[in-house]
Amino acid sequence: MDYKKLIADKLSKSIELETSQIEDMLEIPAKAEMGDFALPCFKLSKILRKAPTMISDMLSEQFETDNAIEKVQSVNGYLNFYLNKQNASADVLSKILSEGENYSKSAEGKDKTICLDYSSVNIAKPMHIGHLSTTAIGNSLSRIYKHLGYNTVSINHLGDWGTQFGKLIVGYKMYSSKKQVEEGGIAELARIYVQYHVDAENDETMDDDARAWFKKIEDGDAEALELFEYFRALTIEEVSKIYAMLDVKFDSYNGEAFYQDKMQPIIDELEEKGLLVEDQGAKVVMLDKYDMPPCMILKKDGASLYATRDMAAAQYRKDTYDFHKCLYVTAYEQNLHFKQFFKVLELMGKDYSKDLVHVNYGWVRMEDGSMSTRKGTAVELKDLINKAIEKSLNIIEEKNSELENKQEVASIVGIGSIIFAALKNNRIKDMVFSWESALSFEGEAAPYVQYTHARCSSVLTKSDISLDGKTDFSTLDNEDAGKIITLLRDFPEIIKSAAERYEPSFITRFSIDLAKTFNKYYFEHRIIDDDGEEKVRARLILAQCTKQVINTALYLIGVKAPDKM
Ligand code: ARG
Repeated sequence: MDYKKLIADKLSKSIELETSQIEDMLEIPAKAEMGDFALPCFKLSKILRKAPTMISDMLSEQFETDNAIEKVQSVNGYLNFYLNKQNASADVLSKILSEGENYSKSAEGKDKTICLDYSSVNIAKPMHIGHLSTTAIGNSLSRIYKHLGYNTVSINHLGDWGTQFGKLIVGYKMYSSKKQVEEGGIAELARIYVQYHVDAENDETMDDDARAWFKKIEDGDAEALELFEYFRALTIEEVSKIYAMLDVKFDSYNGEAFYQDKMQPIIDELEEKGLLVEDQGAKVVMLDKYDMPPCMILKKDGASLYATRDMAAAQYRKDTYDFHKCLYVTAYEQNLHFKQFFKVLELMGKDYSKDLVHVNYGWVRMEDGSMSTRKGTAVELKDLINKAIEKSLNIIEEKNSELENKQEVASIVGIGSIIFAALKNNRIKDMVFSWESALSFEGEAAPYVQYTHARCSSVLTKSDISLDGKTDFSTLDNEDAGKIITLLRDFPEIIKSAAERYEPSFITRFSIDLAKTFNKYYFEHRIIDDDGEEKVRARLILAQCTKQVINTALYLIGVKAPDKM
């Protein structure tokens, strides 16, 4: 039952507006005493030329209550609607029960495509803790959009272009070998790169060599390309293992190198439109009118830049996927970069520039104050994941050593914990990663929510009463159950606003609220009791629906929910 629509339908008899327009004006009040839905009548004052209080008084008189909406009240210019609790509860619970994992899905995205550029790692560099947010946010948004019926394209815009690859080849030839790289993987490539920089300080010829090797890559020299491809493939192979652990998938690994031959049309167009100006030999687009420094398009030697490649990528994605929106999940340090090239595309008259969105986020640091390990390198994501699994296993050994498949559950809980921690607060906030809070069974953390899910499962297996049959929902006529049901009913709205604001944290926080609310109910009410099958059934249905919605919520943020833990 779509209550908003029902209310809007009835109101449309008194207000000359489309039902859908009225529907959009309806809100969910912050406090339960204010009803289940409210119409803020100031939104209508302009149209009806009356004071909000007069409008709400008038509408409340004209509104006909029924079995679903049993009461309306006019308070200070707000019209508050109260649902018939028992009917409403029965309604939403039956809906969740019958729709299962499809509950809260929608078709709003039908025939629309969202491109998501996230994780976007750099070749020859290990993934570090900074990649956790972009990967978790991007993956969650892609699941959320799919849930809302959109097509999605997940793109790993690899950092695989630039003079650093010339340096890597020089370093490789000086200090390493195929065998060493095979054994050491990305870590070996990173070692080569560091060593190169140490030695190049005292030897200028090294940078000249590196430039020459990069030129060879650009010109398609066989040896240079072979090495470059080798480093690239090796990096993808290694990061793919991490993605597999995180259950993250990409549709495309087209990175910066891919756009090498796709920039010329953009440069020509900039030239034609008179947007390119010379600046000390380089070519730039001036953005002073927009309070930004110039956006550099070509270097003095004619080489392209990060922004040039991003512009070619945006055009390619529009041509290939005809996106409704293209999201870039990248740290806020790159705010200027995105503002600049979005603006340049706008100046070129590209209509789609308005559909490009920089989904930015803050930094992550370990609680010991550093982002670094003793070795002096950034905390690697792989190590963080392994440590999380190990710590979870220890906790499981302590709490429930009898559990079957402990290793599997430890991995679900460990990995879930770090993803959950990364998605707990508004993405723009900087965050300090704390093991204690990430792995908490009592606080606002994955294990707490996962444990609530397992608790629901366990209750359900303890009773052999089928969920199908005559049900007495009056047993749910209490404040604690009412709060759970309200949350369950609001879930689809939460998902919608998470998508609108690009905020997976809305769903993370919702999952915490639902878990807390259910646990309060669980400790204060008996679910399996001897007051008759029809009442027990209603309470089991409540547990089943809570389990389902927690499961979906966690899925949407990229976290798995075990049945036992
Ligand atoms: N590789 C870049 C970095 O590590 C992120 C790329 C983001 N995506 C983009 N289209 N610019 O900073």
